[in-house]
Amino acid sequence: MKIRACIFDMDGVIVDTAKFHFKAWQRLADSLSIPFTETQNEQLKGVSRVDSLEKILTWGNIQLNNQKKLELMELKNKWYLDYVEGVDPSEMLPGVADFLKELKENDIKIALGSSSKNSILILEKLGIMHYFSAIIDGNKIHLSKPNPEVFLKGASDLGLKPDQCVVFEDAISGVEAAKDGGFHCVGVGNEDILQKADVVIESMKQASLELLKRFN
Ligand code: BG6
Ligand code: MG
Repeated sequence: MKIRACIFDMDGVIVDTAKFHFKAWQRLADSLSIPFTETQNEQLKGVSRVDSLEKILTWGNIQLNNQKKLELMELKNKWYLDYVEGVDPSEMLPGVADFLKELKENDIKIALGSSSKNSILILEKLGIMHYFSAIIDGNKIHLSKPNPEVFLKGASDLGLKPDQCVVFEDAISGVEAAKDGGFHCVGVGNEDILQKADVVIESMKQASLELLKRFN
């Protein structure tokens, strides 16, 4: 098989933490009296903490100094960490555990390509760190999705070319990043939202070795 690796986004693909990011941003937007909808939240998925805050402030037409922005990001992250406190392996999205096992058994490498600075904490809570040959997260990149840096670094750490890797993404920004970087991309979620992906699956339950073969 031409495909040698899968690079996974984390929030919303491996684990259902996207809902906690949404809850925490919503709480922050409320505290600033900025209206914040689920449609707007789609534009934050995959986007770094700082870029997400900038977008929310722009929507609210609010200007703040850097110190205040840092305080708000800390507050949002504190709330987020409270929400993820109880995350355990049962929170893994359906299909993920079986797919990781199938990849491992078939010598397909596994990497993480996440914008989150909390990714190690979450992977440890899920007990799946040992599956990953490369972990690229928000602490290792300079440019947030939709820039392809996170996936390019992942492929490079694995010693592979982008077209030997399949990226799994639930965010518009992540699908754009994957395609701009020259990767194959499986969108996970809503087909209408993730139009730029090569193929969209509704849930990770549909992820399989068979699905990867279409990229040969
Ligand atoms: C992405 C999420 O994975 O990580 C975004 O989709 C989030 O919603 C981003 O803003 C950064 O996460 P963190 O954990 O570093 O605040
Ligand atoms: Mg995501």
